[in-house]
This record gives sequence, C-alpha cells and structure tokens, in this order.
Amino acid sequence: MRHLFTTFALLLLSISSTNAWSQTGEEINKKCALCHGVWSQGIIGGLYPRLAGLNKEYLVKAITDYKTGVRQDNSMNIIGGILSMGDQDIEKISQYLSGIDLSEKAPLQIPALAGNISKGKKLYRSDCKTCHGKKGEGKPKKDSPSLAGQYSGYLAKQITDFRNKVRHHDNDEDDETFDDFSPTQFQDMLAFISTLDD
Ligand code: HEC
Ligand code: HEC
Repeated sequence: MRHLFTTFALLLLSISSTNAWSQTGEEINKKCALCHGVWSQGIIGGLYPRLAGLNKEYLVKAITDYKTGVRQDNSMNIIGGILSMGDQDIEKISQYLSGIDLSEKAPLQIPALAGNISKGKKLYRSDCKTCHGKKGEGKPKKDSPSLAGQYSGYLAKQITDFRNKVRHHDNDEDDETFDDFSPTQFQDMLAFISTLDD
C-alpha cells in the first residue's frame, strides 16, 4: 500500500512538473480564472482585482512579490499555486494577462462609487497624477500601475494595507503618501477614480 502511494505521489509530481515546463499562459490562467474571472476581468465587489490589460512588468513584479512574501495572500498561494511558479511561468502568465483586451472579451464598467467627484479629482490631480497618470492609466516608467478600470473595493483595501505598512506604496517603506488624508477625502478620491473608465 505504501509502495503504491509512493508511486502515485511520484506520478503526480512528474505530471505537475511536466506541465509547469510546457504550460502556456492561457493554460496557467485556468487556475487564476477561478478567482479573477475567465478573462481576468476581476469580480465586482473588488475582492478579486482585474488583471487583464495591466502593464506586463507590473504583473511580473506583483506576482513575484506574492511569491517572495513581500505581498501576502494565502488563498492565492494555495489555490493559485503562486509559490511554485518559476520565472518562465510568471513571464508567460504576465504576457498573457497584459495582452487581454477587455473591450473585446468582457467590457468592463466599474460601478460609480458615492463621493464628491470634483473634490476627489482635485486631490488626485495634485497628489497622484504625477505617477499614476492624468487618466489613471499608470506609468510603466515609474513602475506605477493603472488605477482606472480597477474595482474601488480592491483599491480601498490596498490603501488600507499601505497605511498599515502591510504593503509598501511606491516600493518605499517610509512612504507617506496616504498619511494626511481623511476618510472622506479617500472616499472622494476613489469616487473620482471610479469614473475614469467611463
Ligand atoms: C483563491 C483566489 C485566487 C486565485 C486562484 C488567484 N488569485 Fe490573484 N488575487 C487574489 C486576491 C484575493 C488578490 C488581492 C490580494 C491583495 O489584496 O493583495 C489577488 C491579487 C492578485 C494580483 C495583484 C493585482 C494588482 O493590481 O496589484 C495579481 C497580479 C494576481 N492576483 C495574479 C494572480 C495569478 C497570476 C493567478 C494564477 C496563477 C492568481 N492571481 C490566482 C485571489 C486569487
Ligand atoms: C511617486 C510616485 C507615486 C505617487 C505620487 C502615487 N503613487 Fe500610487 N503607486 C506607485 C507605485 C510605484 C505603485 C506600485 C507599488 C508596487 O509595485 O507594489 C503604486 C501603487 C498604488 C496602488 C495599488 C494598485 C494596485 O493595483 O494594487 C494604489 C491604490 C495607489 N498606488 C494609489 C495612489 C493614490 C490614491 C495616490 C495619490 C494620493 C498615489 N497612489 C500616488 C507610485 C505612486
């Protein structure tokens, strides 16, 4: 019985390592799709962010951050298999996800968030625009992701993580970007960002 079990375990191991070697981005995405959606459009409510169309270099960096523990999400480690992904797999899945054009596959409309949009716009323009772009499109040269077309709930959770130093904004442990805003100001900024994909 024990012998049988060992054989079975070895068989599984060889299947999974062969797959890891030969899997395409589309195949790897089957695991990711369980939470992020078939086209990686994310899920309304914002627990699972949209990944489709994000900048490839940012995706490589984000996935590597989960793998190395810089960012933490246990569900993704276990079900998404992030911890066992090699550099090539990370490269392939990032290439695949960044190439998905949601306007063709699954047109996205971020639900408008309540808040004072014109106040939010002013705050955004003065404090966020230099790195995230006038329309929230992100700036790969500054390693900053797009915020337009991302779910408000996910963005709010990241800001809370940044404030609690669970995640580092702008890759800077001492970042102070979010220290001086009131809850209402965050709400207004997120309300403005939720209009950027309209
Ligand atoms: C069990 C659910 C689950 C699975 C499966 C999953 N993810 Fe995630 N993913 C999440 C959650 C939840 C978050 C948000 C975590 C956080 O707040 O940091 C996330 C966040 C991300 C982010 C960060 C996006 C950003 O804007 O910074 C990337 C990149 C990502 N996932 C890639 C993947 C890839 C690639 C796979 C498949 C190999 C995958 N995920 C599978 C749940 C999942
Ligand atoms: C000096 C450049 C810079 C400025 C200014 C800046 N950011 Fe960022 N931001 C970044 C970088 C770089 C990242 C990516 C960090 C990483 O790789 O984990 C980021 C990430 C984020 C994320 C996470 C996005 C995701 O997909 O997970 C949010 C939300 C965010 N910024 C909001 C803001 C807001 C709101 C402002 C204005 C109050 C702002 N940022 C100002 C550089 C900046």
